[in-house]
Amino acid sequence: MTKNTLTITDNRTGQGYDIPIEHDTINAMDLRQIRVNEGDFGMMSYDPGFKNTASTKSNITFIDGGAGILRYRGYPIEQLAEKSKFLEVAYLTLFGELPDKEAYDAWVYDIRHHTFLHENMKSLMQAFRHDAHPMGMFISSVAALSTFYPEARNVMDPEVRAKQIVRLISKVPTIAAFSYRHSKGLPYVYPNNDLTYAGNFLAMLDKMSESTYEVNPVLERALDVLFMLHVDHEQNCGTATMRVIGSSQTDPYTAMAGAAAALYGPLHGGANEAVLRMLVEIGDAKNVPAFMEGVKKRERLLMGFGHRVYKNFDPRAKIIKGIADQVFEVTGRNPLLDIALELERIALADDFFIERNLYPNVDFYSGIIYQAMKFPVSMFPVLFAIPRTVGWLTQWQELLGDKTQKIARPRQIYLGADERDFVPMHKR
Ligand code: SDX
Repeated sequence: MTKNTLTITDNRTGQGYDIPIEHDTINAMDLRQIRVNEGDFGMMSYDPGFKNTASTKSNITFIDGGAGILRYRGYPIEQLAEKSKFLEVAYLTLFGELPDKEAYDAWVYDIRHHTFLHENMKSLMQAFRHDAHPMGMFISSVAALSTFYPEARNVMDPEVRAKQIVRLISKVPTIAAFSYRHSKGLPYVYPNNDLTYAGNFLAMLDKMSESTYEVNPVLERALDVLFMLHVDHEQNCGTATMRVIGSSQTDPYTAMAGAAAALYGPLHGGANEAVLRMLVEIGDAKNVPAFMEGVKKRERLLMGFGHRVYKNFDPRAKIIKGIADQVFEVTGRNPLLDIALELERIALADDFFIERNLYPNVDFYSGIIYQAMKFPVSMFPVLFAIPRTVGWLTQWQELLGDKTQKIARPRQIYLGADERDFVPMHKR
């Protein structure tokens, strides 16, 4: 019977160690027994960027990077995008099962009736500069919500957690829409609880003096699908941040502000904004070959390409590319699509990208659709943060329920100065 262990020989001492293997992984703490001298701290693993380190066990999202597979609670993203809707996927992600009609209707009612923000929140948001980036407003406003719900600090109380989760999922579209209206110098539009999640968001963005806002069903469905595609993605940078901050048992508003801050980076959820700026800079498909030479010379990254986990097509990118045509039927074709298609065509045939497993990721095509829907580029990371709120909160809840988790506190390899005595100023 094969032993489920790893045998390590420390050639410094000739000592052998049998390390248990579980889920094809070893527990890093089992390395600490490997020492040269009795008083040594013991061995650690070194993994900048956590490229090969599991920080948790999870039941939420499964990704097979090599095969381009993404499943929420076991359901393939392709089936959910085609057959489900955002609030149903949000329920599935959070509670682990698809809801029956009664549970779904109660869930939708709950979400639709927590969309309003306290009027002080509105005043706080109006204090931002007229040209404040909507993502900066979003992050600050989510953090500020913690001051309106002090009971949220009772993170180990399931009922308190459930209430904050509903509040955040309900309110992030309102915060996002208020941030957008602020950037346009337009009055804020209050939520309409008779509309769907995506429909209400579109109305808060676009409603002007008309008495009732007519939601375009094609754009409403496209946005709902885009929201589904962005719900969760296991231990990405933003979610890992949510877990690190959540591990200190701070409230979910403060933790989520940190997660959104991580998402904002151009290497992460800010990439969709960077993709659009890149396409606009390229300007025409005929400029693509020269641009790609610059990428191959390491002068810049091909934004929207590459992924830490997917070494194949990001399944979300394929679905988003399919949505583009439906949206363009309503909005008119976005000419930037031709540049994006040429970038993809060249990248998929060029060894530089093939050898590095660089394929379009979720951010490559989403921005083209958002721009066609008239979203300003600065809103793109906010559009990512809205649905990812569900993933962040689900992962945060799983963390708090995991008895094996402790406060996140990585170690380091110290290579700095040895002990030395203070030198008074006149002797320096
Ligand atoms: C998201 O983690 C998630 O799940 C994230 C996400 C989610 O849903 O939460 O999927 C959302 O963040 C998608 C990624 C969006 N970011 C971008 O599109 C920015 C451009 N992509 C790169 O910055 C990069 O691909 C990352 C950050 C996404 C992944 O970087 P890794 O895994 O750390 O890979 P790496 O930087 O070590 O790159 C490996 C090689 C390097 O070349 P060599 O030095 O080995 O020769 O590939 C090169 C890199 O230079 N490379 C790129 C590139 N991405 C990697 N070269 C050109 N253009 C790129 N985009």
